[in-house]
Amino acid sequence: MKKYKKMSIMNVPVDEAQLISLLLKLMNAENTLEVGVFTGYSLLATALALPPEGKVIAIDVDKEAYHTGLPFIQKAGVENKIKFIQSDATSALDNLINDNKEGSFDFAFVDADKGKYIKYHEQLLKLVKVGGIIGYDNTLWFGTVAMSEEELTEKEEYVKEGRKPLLELNSFLANDPRIESIIVSIGDGLTLCRRL
Ligand SMILES: C[S@@+](CC[C@H](N)C(=O)[O-])C[C@H]1O[C@@H](n2cnc3c(N)ncnc32)[C@H](O)[C@@H]1O
Repeated sequence: MKKYKKMSIMNVPVDEAQLISLLLKLMNAENTLEVGVFTGYSLLATALALPPEGKVIAIDVDKEAYHTGLPFIQKAGVENKIKFIQSDATSALDNLINDNKEGSFDFAFVDADKGKYIKYHEQLLKLVKVGGIIGYDNTLWFGTVAMSEEELTEKEEYVKEGRKPLLELNSFLANDPRIESIIVSIGDGLTLCRRL
């Protein structure tokens, strides 16, 4: 537990979890995907929002982090709605595509390797049904995606480097005719894409 305690910044903030929860209920979502679980806070919010027969497939390379948060998921009585897959997300998503799961999911939430978001997007467009939603976390990247190079000079190196894939993603999504999208200014930025 201690190992992950100082990393709680990795979890989405409470208001973002509540927004995701409300969205899932509004959509009557039953089958969802989560890419990037960590200790399972957004996963818990998702599992709680799904109906009793709902299922979320949760993918992360780090099983230990998932097991750290698992007692809370069990206490909430929603472990039965979760299928955890310990894997690199790209191969887990490919496996789902190869298992004929195309068009099976109402919703996907992506909060893992930012450099792979565009790759995940191509896979998720296959897996999420028409009218379904794909959410990408951290798309404002500490607000830096809207900053000039001059404003960035004061920022730490990981912030400067980390914004590059998000700038690329934001521009890619804004020009993708297969989706309708919006960046919601909540947490570190949440882009919601509706598959057309
Ligand atoms: C920001 S945390 C997820 C936080 C979680 N969504 C929440 O709000 O509670 C990112 C997670 O992505 C996982 N991750 C990073 N790269 C990955 C990859 N290529 N495949 C699968 N998981 C990955 C990390 O192990 C980490 O647990």
